[in-house]
Amino acid sequence: MQIVILKDAAEVAAYGADLFTAQLKRKANSVLGLATGSTPVALYQELIRRNQQGEISFSQVTSFNLDEYLGLDGSHPQSYRHFMNEQLFNHIDIDKANTHVPPGDAKNPIVACDEYEARMTQAGGIDIQLLGIGRNGHIGFNEPSSGLTSRTRVKTLTKATIDDNARFFAADEYQPHLSITMGIGTILDAKKVVLLATGENKADAVSAMVEGPLTAACPASALQMHRNAVIVIDEAAASKLKDVEFYKHIENENQKLLQHLASL
Ligand code: PGA
Repeated sequence: MQIVILKDAAEVAAYGADLFTAQLKRKANSVLGLATGSTPVALYQELIRRNQQGEISFSQVTSFNLDEYLGLDGSHPQSYRHFMNEQLFNHIDIDKANTHVPPGDAKNPIVACDEYEARMTQAGGIDIQLLGIGRNGHIGFNEPSSGLTSRTRVKTLTKATIDDNARFFAADEYQPHLSITMGIGTILDAKKVVLLATGENKADAVSAMVEGPLTAACPASALQMHRNAVIVIDEAAASKLKDVEFYKHIENENQKLLQHLASL
């Protein structure tokens, strides 16, 4: 894992946006894996700005989102399809027909999960996958105890996740307890993974992911098995890591190497 520790959430968003920008410049028809939650919003705003200024284009992009609530159709204000339209797709030059979010209103969710996997395979697989991390170490809606080789499937949300996400729902509004989520194995198949985490309330999860054992008890620890995972965090999210100075030193050396390669 490449651990990048930055000052604050704004720097984390800018660093993440740079990785997506580089990917789009390298391959205009990239397949992007996208995420919802509070953390990616600033990154999406930066991508929107760069798209509107003509620096990057999404016109040939295909996207797949990590997860969706089961029981909400895409027009529901709390659905992740609605979130993606509002936070990103409505503001960029992407063809919405090429954007995929698991169908929360699927008649047969089991079949829908297999179809979602098949569509990702048909598209050639995900080039770069954006992730957040839950306070309990989840990635997507892969809660603790999720199989480390799992594929897209129906998952029950933990009470911790339901409580964390209750802030998005009105007091009297139905909040789903089930989801469709890409599996951990699905996420590990992405060619590159970029996980963003900010704030002190993520510090325990970040510590377990980076310095804890590889375990289904912390689904994000599976990224230790990925050959190209970049963990971009702010100082607060890094505050419970033991080896902060070492990670900063490595990143410093990485940047020097990149500058050297660029000068060749
Ligand atoms: P957050 O969610 O970005 O809203 O903190 C992250 C997650 O649960 O994956």
